[in-house]
Amino acid sequence: MRILVVFESMFGATERVAEAIGKGLAGAAPVEVVNVDKAPRDLAGVGLLVVGGPTHVHGMSRAATRKSAAEQVDYPTRSRIGVREWLDSIEVVPAGLAAAAFDTRIDKPRVFTGAASLGVAKRLSKRGCRLVLPAESFFVGTESVDTGPEPGEPERAEAWGAALGAALVRAAT
Ligand SMILES: Cc1cc2nc3c(=O)[nH]c(=O)nc-3n(C[C@H](O)[C@H](O)[C@H](O)COP(=O)(O)O)c2cc1C
Repeated sequence: MRILVVFESMFGATERVAEAIGKGLAGAAPVEVVNVDKAPRDLAGVGLLVVGGPTHVHGMSRAATRKSAAEQVDYPTRSRIGVREWLDSIEVVPAGLAAAAFDTRIDKPRVFTGAASLGVAKRLSKRGCRLVLPAESFFVGTESVDTGPEPGEPERAEAWGAALGAALVRAAT
């Protein structure tokens, strides 16, 4: 049994959060943290799937919002495709696969920001996954587009990863 954490990231914040979640999960089983561009389409052997991306225009990114993100910086953005496209393209999903969704977004009430994780969670359920914890958001700073996670958020992400691992172990016993 292995744990797969799939992230989409433009400027690196969601990647940092995904790495922290992976660190928190490390005690539960072998963990792989992968960019959505390189994520497998066959999930046989995966015991927990964790999927996250940045919130764009209140939800999951689309080609047009990723293009807009790329135009805001002078370096290549980290993911070319989005978790939306990847989730639609997976070919093999073990029945009832344990899963969880996360996103990064601005630190304001969700009614103003939206949250990509809600769309991710919906798609995971549609693909027959069983959500082990509610969708979670981690906050980014707003000084520049690539400020990264707010102070304390990587630690909160690591704790969320540990809670996911504990929920997985509880479900297995
Ligand atoms: C095109 C675009 C649209 C965005 N829309 C929203 C939004 O609706 N709500 C929000 O909270 N943040 C929004 N953001 C901020 C992103 O959530 C932020 O850039 C992201 O969390 C950073 O993660 P990353 O570095 O992994 O890309 C938007 C960013 C971009 C580039």
